[in-house]
Amino acid sequence: MPGLIERYMDRLPFEPGDPIITLDEGSTPLVQAPRLSERVGAEVWLKLEGANPTGSFKDRGMTCAVSAAVRDGARAVICASTGNTAAALAAYAARAGIRGVVIVPEGKIAMGKLAQALMHGAQVVALQGNFDRALELVRKVAARHPIALVNSVNDFRIEGQKTAAYEIAEALGDLDALCIPVGNAGNITAYWRGFREVGLSPRMFGFQAAGAAPLVHGSPVAAPETVASAIRIGNPARWEQAMDAMTSSRGGVDAVSDEQILDAYRFLARDEGVFCEPASAASVAGLLAHGAGGAQRVVCVLTGHGLKDPDTALASVGGVIPCAPELDMIERVIVGQGLS
Ligand code: F0G
Repeated sequence: MPGLIERYMDRLPFEPGDPIITLDEGSTPLVQAPRLSERVGAEVWLKLEGANPTGSFKDRGMTCAVSAAVRDGARAVICASTGNTAAALAAYAARAGIRGVVIVPEGKIAMGKLAQALMHGAQVVALQGNFDRALELVRKVAARHPIALVNSVNDFRIEGQKTAAYEIAEALGDLDALCIPVGNAGNITAYWRGFREVGLSPRMFGFQAAGAAPLVHGSPVAAPETVASAIRIGNPARWEQAMDAMTSSRGGVDAVSDEQILDAYRFLARDEGVFCEPASAASVAGLLAHGAGGAQRVVCVLTGHGLKDPDTALASVGGVIPCAPELDMIERVIVGQGLS
């Protein structure tokens, strides 16, 4: 499939002939989740955004933001990030042949994301502060220097990310509810815009990690903390738009504990064959813990791939079984596990 700017140009702020920086993002799988459906008593689908080229939904926004920056003559792009935006920025900047700069909270981003940003040649600044502080600072840097800001405060990001709602509408025709993790609140804003544009109004249920749940408390969180590092955010930039999406769709926002997130994370991997990162599992944890208002057909957005964060995966499961290189030893191990 071509990238999403080409697929949806008539509904995006681009014209034929514009420079397009793409990795053929979008067109991600929407798969049914039979065991999850059984558990919650509804028809549940999973939108696998980890199948995008850099392994997260950020590619949808980044193809638009970087293409627009190149069209405007930018020679550099910058963002604050909990990891995935950094990885996507780095890849699309490399593709465009421009400079990429990312500011990440030191020691608080998953290993895969850091490897991606560095491999793609971005300048990676490890801030001794959290994401919210990083975003404040990059806004100031972008105001003072000729460097394009590509966080989701940039509307091209929202425009690109709304295409996931188009894809769901094309695949299902209609749905009753969407469950989605909320961090900086750009993605829920984008889905709502996309659904409205195609005439749908599913109930929008946003889920935040309990230690980083400003929208649930109704006030910023100074020191957000959660195992789901991607959504470790205390003062979301798209606060009002996210609340509007949830209120006008008759949805809501709720918190899920780290334990609930990790339970959903393991359940998806073991019982549905889908490996997502912890932040993504917040959508399913939320559905399991809080329901989706009695909805019959529900889509959970799995925002990023599980391989992004191997450390959390390995800390969440049992270890390997050491074995001498002999047939009888292997048999003893696997038959002992009840193979025959
Ligand atoms: N899921 C994942 C895997 C994310 O990386 C993010 C955000 C979210 C959910 C929340 O989306 O911010 O639009 O509400 N990650 C950003 C980043 C903040 O820097 O990569 P949101």
